Amino acid sequence: MKLLSMCVRVCVLVLLSGILRVHANPFVVVGGLVASGTALYSYIYHERCNSNWIGYNPKGLKDDLKQKLFGQHIAAPVIFQSVTGFMSSTNSQKPLVLSLNGVTGTGKNHISKIIAKNIYRKGMDSSFVHLLPATKFFPHVENLSQYKTWLQNFIEDNVRSCERSLFIFDEMDKMHPGLIDIIKPYLDYHDHLGQISFRNSIFIFLSNSGGQEIAQTALDFWNAGLDRQKITLKDLEKSVSVSSFNNAGGGFYETFLIESGLVDVFVPFLPLEKHHVKQCVLAAMAERNLEPNLTVAEKVAEELIYFPKHEKLFSSNGCKTIEKRLPFHLFV
Ligand SMILES: Nc1ncnc2c1ncn2[C@@H]1O[C@H](COP(=O)(O)OP(=O)(O)OP(=O)(O)O)[C@@H](O)[C@H]1O
Ligand SMILES: [Mg+2]
Repeated sequence: MKLLSMCVRVCVLVLLSGILRVHANPFVVVGGLVASGTALYSYIYHERCNSNWIGYNPKGLKDDLKQKLFGQHIAAPVIFQSVTGFMSSTNSQKPLVLSLNGVTGTGKNHISKIIAKNIYRKGMDSSFVHLLPATKFFPHVENLSQYKTWLQNFIEDNVRSCERSLFIFDEMDKMHPGLIDIIKPYLDYHDHLGQISFRNSIFIFLSNSGGQEIAQTALDFWNAGLDRQKITLKDLEKSVSVSSFNNAGGGFYETFLIESGLVDVFVPFLPLEKHHVKQCVLAAMAERNLEPNLTVAEKVAEELIYFPKHEKLFSSNGCKTIEKRLPFHLFV
């Protein structure tokens, strides 16, 4: 259907240019052709809220999670199942609401990009994907009431123009308590709110809260000689949501969102160990089209700081600084 309408448009343009060739002077013809070309270009390349631009790729998501996300044996399947369940439902009752929690550099933004890439053709560059870091968008507590109004309008306007919108609220632990409750009505079980349906949108919250509790559980497993892979969502989910709720000063502090169960899943991100860091280095090399070099990976991983002080088990910055550190070892 789309193809047909495009063909019709192209034919009309060609016909028009033919007529112009007969009747008009060459400047008019060239001008007309340029204008038609521009219109055609914008028709083809301008992103729209339709299946040409938005379409879920479950295989792509599964492959990316398997190949590009390291050390997150809980997050990977939970994300895949939640997103796939939601995207394949034709009758979702509410938007998908995920909270990704964990210490720094463990892959929360990374996975959000992977999700965006497998839903939107333009990935994070899509005009239907909105990344909102708290310190950038809501920095001053004295402006809280303006922020509330702005956020409400922002969400409503964007979902009005595309129901399949993705909102990523970054740095939730740095967001002023009280602000996020303003979006509660959009996350709840409503058919429509003022003519807008929010049921097909996705809200992802990223936060460091709960990270210490997750790390402690991982450490407890290690101390007990248990395999990290044995840690389950159940072992962590409760402590993460409780810790977000109790984190005074954080965006989820005593929020209705948690109380009313509107967050579908709290997804825990485990702290990364040295062997995961090495995988990140190799991935960063592959990204630069370089041959994998284990010696370099080893060197970069050795340079990082690990915690706790005695066990030195987990990378303090996860894989966050790798991209910056890699050149020190490549150009020697
Ligand atoms: N688990 C992981 N698997 C693969 N790469 C990772 C992982 N964690 C982090 N990375 C790499 O490190 C970079 C930084 O990670 P990311 O921004 O996702 O961290 P974060 O969890 O959002 O941290 P913060 O809490 O500080 O915001 C990513 O772009 C990615 O390249
Ligand atoms: Mg982040």
